[in-house]
Amino acid sequence: MRRFLLSLAIALFATIASAAPKHWVVGFSQIGSESEWRTADTISVQNAFNEDPTFTLIYSDAQQKQENQIKAVRSFIARKVNVILFTALVETGYGPVLEEAKKAGIPVVMIDRDVQKSDRHLRLTIMGSDFVKEGEKAGTWLGDYLKAKGLDDGTKPINIVELQGTTGSAPAIDRKTGFETIMKKHPNWKITRSQTGNFTSSEGKAVMEAFLKADKNIQVLYAHNDQMALGAIQAIKEAGLQPGKDIIIVSVDAVKGAFEAMVRGELNASIECSPLLGPQALQAVKDLRAGKKLPARIWTIEGVFDQTSAAQALPTRQY
Ligand code: AHR
Repeated sequence: MRRFLLSLAIALFATIASAAPKHWVVGFSQIGSESEWRTADTISVQNAFNEDPTFTLIYSDAQQKQENQIKAVRSFIARKVNVILFTALVETGYGPVLEEAKKAGIPVVMIDRDVQKSDRHLRLTIMGSDFVKEGEKAGTWLGDYLKAKGLDDGTKPINIVELQGTTGSAPAIDRKTGFETIMKKHPNWKITRSQTGNFTSSEGKAVMEAFLKADKNIQVLYAHNDQMALGAIQAIKEAGLQPGKDIIIVSVDAVKGAFEAMVRGELNASIECSPLLGPQALQAVKDLRAGKKLPARIWTIEGVFDQTSAAQALPTRQY
């Protein structure tokens, strides 16, 4: 009887042990901390994994340098992590290191920014926003706004300046493409100046200062993120103009700072791009560990906010 009970206990223990999830080590290569958005994204991923004791997250900050990301991925491979979470600073240049991860049998899950098309077979999936759609939403919002305010008769030129994100990055490429798709419906809209502000407030401000010095005929600013728009708002004010009135401003992200600017009447609209990717990333990695097949693309669901909805939404914003 005693022997029977002992073997029953051992069998029970073995069943429980085999059902418990294996401990996984996850490497996360982040691009840096250029914006409020990025900080919220990093914290979201760190919190999600750090709160689950069956995971250890190794975090690496590339400080906006591609070579640091390549080094980080190589060190994850050397440490034989179970999965790599990866945000690509720019689209190109990661083929060889992703090939190395694939050869080592380590799946790569992209978060937020993808790599170029020809390298996408080397990663398992991508989760994040549809940046092309964000650009389209910005253009559509602008068209509706100008029409509603009687500011665009379809013939007089609408001069738009553009603050682009980091050159070669997926959001900069796609947000431009999406916006330009909508521009085709408005032959009188023209991008008169376009330059990178690297997704940062300081560069957004500096580039806008240069635009304003060179050009007195700007009706609209399209910024690829809020951070650059917030910097540009400073430049517009310092030039003695009223942001949101003298120059209409639409940007992307919908961070808290953008909501505050909308409530002040200085920013006209922000297209939402959620950085809260941690819970989704955790779920995907858990599914992977459980042997499930991940979808090739995991989208985030996002909205559009302007001065009519900003005050009501501000108190519940999480980033
Ligand atoms: O990749 C997402 C973009 O990167 C966000 O729009 C921007 O704020 C960030 O720096």
